[in-house]
Amino acid sequence: MKKLLGLSVVLMIAPLAHAADIEAGKAKVATVCAACHGAGGVSVSDTIPNLAAQRAGYLEAQLKALKDGTRKNPIMNAIAAQLSPEDMANVAAYFAAQPGAEKGAKSGFLPGVARTHVSFPEGYKDTFTKYHTINFPATRQVRHYFANQAAVQAAREGKPLPAGSVLFVEVYAAKLDADQKPVTGSDGFYVADKLVAYTAMASGAGWGKDVPDMLRNGDWNYAVFTTDKQHRPGVNQAECFACHKPLDSTSYVFTLKQLAGAK
Ligand code: HEC
Ligand code: HEC
Repeated sequence: MKKLLGLSVVLMIAPLAHAADIEAGKAKVATVCAACHGAGGVSVSDTIPNLAAQRAGYLEAQLKALKDGTRKNPIMNAIAAQLSPEDMANVAAYFAAQPGAEKGAKSGFLPGVARTHVSFPEGYKDTFTKYHTINFPATRQVRHYFANQAAVQAAREGKPLPAGSVLFVEVYAAKLDADQKPVTGSDGFYVADKLVAYTAMASGAGWGKDVPDMLRNGDWNYAVFTTDKQHRPGVNQAECFACHKPLDSTSYVFTLKQLAGAK
């Protein structure tokens, strides 16, 4: 009887022990997921869910849906695409085993991922090429896109953008009419009113070396600047990396086609 009992216990736990490797999950979380969800599954911001103490089966199912695209989120679609079924089982088991977050608790950013080398490109109005404009109806903004000579030249020649490339975006609130609708100018774009912020991406030799492969965009770094040219506090570069990551074939640049056609 004793023996029988022992055998049945082994049979019951063996498949579970085989399914997930919590230590492997912990290691993956520490290098990648921690940048947004925190090393213990308590996330870094209000817009990112806590994963601590969620059920493993739920987490695994979400990762599968994010990988195959049935659940849509540009950041997590890019991350999940890089996870194997084993990775998913491992990280899900790890997060499920963490204690739930206390109310209001937040984790800090991963320093190696959040730190940026990009500085404000003084004098860009004189030396950069304005290559593109996009209206954003949902936010009633219009953005003006600029690039430095190194980036423009490589894009024109169909070459990968080299170290030293800088892409720079002015983000404006559109001028609104009496009905609070954006006013369109004769060029078809919203008339720019107030400058809201600047966003930038730039590359430099070795700038990507501290970024884990799943997030790394070659040697690109990202930044957001306030209207008085300071780094905007609270920017998590991990989000920029994640969303631009799938664009490895276009130097991580969404508007490469427009850049190549810059006059
Ligand atoms: C750049 C930030 C970022 C990184 C890095 C990141 N995530 Fe996420 N994750 C998010 C965001 C944002 C959401 C919310 C998505 C949505 O709204 O649908 C999310 C959602 C999820 C969900 C769904 C949670 C739920 O409650 O439904 C899971 C599971 C998840 N992430 C797992 C991971 C794992 C595992 C990793 C590491 C391999 C990881 N994430 C790395 C930003 C990130
Ligand atoms: C949700 C996905 C997403 C995230 C997150 C994201 N970007 Fe982008 N980014 C885009 C898309 C799409 C474009 C193309 C045009 C546009 O929307 O401005 C773009 C364009 C850009 C450009 C112009 C060059 C290009 O690639 O076309 C810069 C510079 C840029 N983003 C900087 C940033 C910075 C800095 C961050 C992080 C603070 C960031 N992005 C986060 C999706 C994203």
